[in-house]
Amino acid sequence: MASISLRHIFKEYPHTAKERKKEEEKNISPFAVRDFNLEIKDGEFVVLVGPSGCGKSTTLRMIAGLEDISGGELYIDDVLSNNVDASKRNIAMVFQNYALYPHMTSYGNMAYGLKLRKVSKTLRVVDKDAIKALKQKRKETKDDEELKRIDEEIESLKNNPSKEKTVLVHYTKAEIDEKIQKAAEILDIKHLLDRKPSDMSGGQRQRVALGRALVREPKVFLLDEPLSNLDAKLRASMRSEIVKLHRTVKTTFVYVTHDQIEAMTMGEKIVVMKDGVIQQVGAPSVIYDKPLNKFVAGFIGTPQMNFFNVKLKAGAKDVHITLPNNKEISFKLDELRKIKDEYITGEEKEVILGIRGENISLNNKKGGIDAQVVFAEMLGNTTNIICKLDDSTDEFNISIQDRTELKPGDKVSVSFNATAIHLFDKENEETIYLSEGE
Ligand SMILES: Nc1ncnc2c1ncn2[C@@H]1O[C@H](COP(=O)(O)OP(=O)(O)O)[C@@H](O)[C@H]1O
Ligand SMILES: [Mg+2]
Repeated sequence: MASISLRHIFKEYPHTAKERKKEEEKNISPFAVRDFNLEIKDGEFVVLVGPSGCGKSTTLRMIAGLEDISGGELYIDDVLSNNVDASKRNIAMVFQNYALYPHMTSYGNMAYGLKLRKVSKTLRVVDKDAIKALKQKRKETKDDEELKRIDEEIESLKNNPSKEKTVLVHYTKAEIDEKIQKAAEILDIKHLLDRKPSDMSGGQRQRVALGRALVREPKVFLLDEPLSNLDAKLRASMRSEIVKLHRTVKTTFVYVTHDQIEAMTMGEKIVVMKDGVIQQVGAPSVIYDKPLNKFVAGFIGTPQMNFFNVKLKAGAKDVHITLPNNKEISFKLDELRKIKDEYITGEEKEVILGIRGENISLNNKKGGIDAQVVFAEMLGNTTNIICKLDDSTDEFNISIQDRTELKPGDKVSVSFNATAIHLFDKENEETIYLSEGE
């Protein structure tokens, strides 16, 4: 069990002068990870999520000690660990490609690391120094009673190992077997212990890879896209298996994925990353309902959140929003989430309105927003209706629970659920709402 604290962590991979010049020209940061700050509590399940290349694996590898840290401080259990050797961190890592030895059985793969490992054991040994001292004393003693007493004491020391001695020893075969059987039980792979990787499915191999991590009884589990090689159905079931495993072992897990559904379903805490920089940290529901910027809003959730370039006029009482088709929609200020003061000027500002398809209703009420249907797709439990405001604007989606008779070209009237409207600054794309506690 361990807590992990990352403070102002930077990572710069070695660059050639040519590469550096190119980056400068394009104004790209040379850092794969930049000013990364995160507190991971003991026993927590944290998910790092973001598009490919955003620095997830780099961050994980720095925690594992497989990659040097260019700047900042990494604390594991309050111990500064930047320069602690990977082998001394007691952290296990599971990779996308399983990294099992092909010529070994599952049992062999799980046993391999344990066989190499030395653990300190406290043994009780005969206290030779004390005996020596007593023998010396015996030589100097004349008194028979005293001699007898010394002899008894020496005898007792010889028969009762009383001195504690710490030694480094390998696990015994029986100890290794016990650990493997226990892990195999948890992961339901007892029947696979004699098989080699080539005789197992991807899901089974990944279970064995998890088993190999589990037998080490690490303080921290790091998982780097462990389910990416599996098909969709297996991924879904392995997701819940890994969450269950976390509940069983109650150890700190840091899980990396580019798949926002994995992040949403597995994480207690999600860290959304982009270009080496943390965008937002929070519980899945907070990330989904209160994204801090347009990137997070668009990255989390399928279908993607709809965005419109709008003009906002927020006054002390009312908020007017002009949509791209020039339709104005109005709200009472308190119908929306709390807007930062600097946006409540009564003057028109260009902002980005974001709204998820499930927060748009088709009501055909008077005063609604006119739109036309482009097409509708039935997804089974929901229906996705793709619309546009008019011919000059982008498409957006509406997600409804019912089936629909709507056909391409049909005219509809829609409305936006006020509490689910997101507003982002046009320039920096950050939310214009106050955060909790502000
Ligand atoms: N060994 C390396 N040498 C140089 N650049 C690297 C190395 N590994 C990763 N990078 C770069 O660092 C950035 C982050 O990579 P990575 O952490 O692998 O991203 P992710 O795991 O989120 O896909 C990328 O731009 C990648 O090209
Ligand atoms: Mg990666």
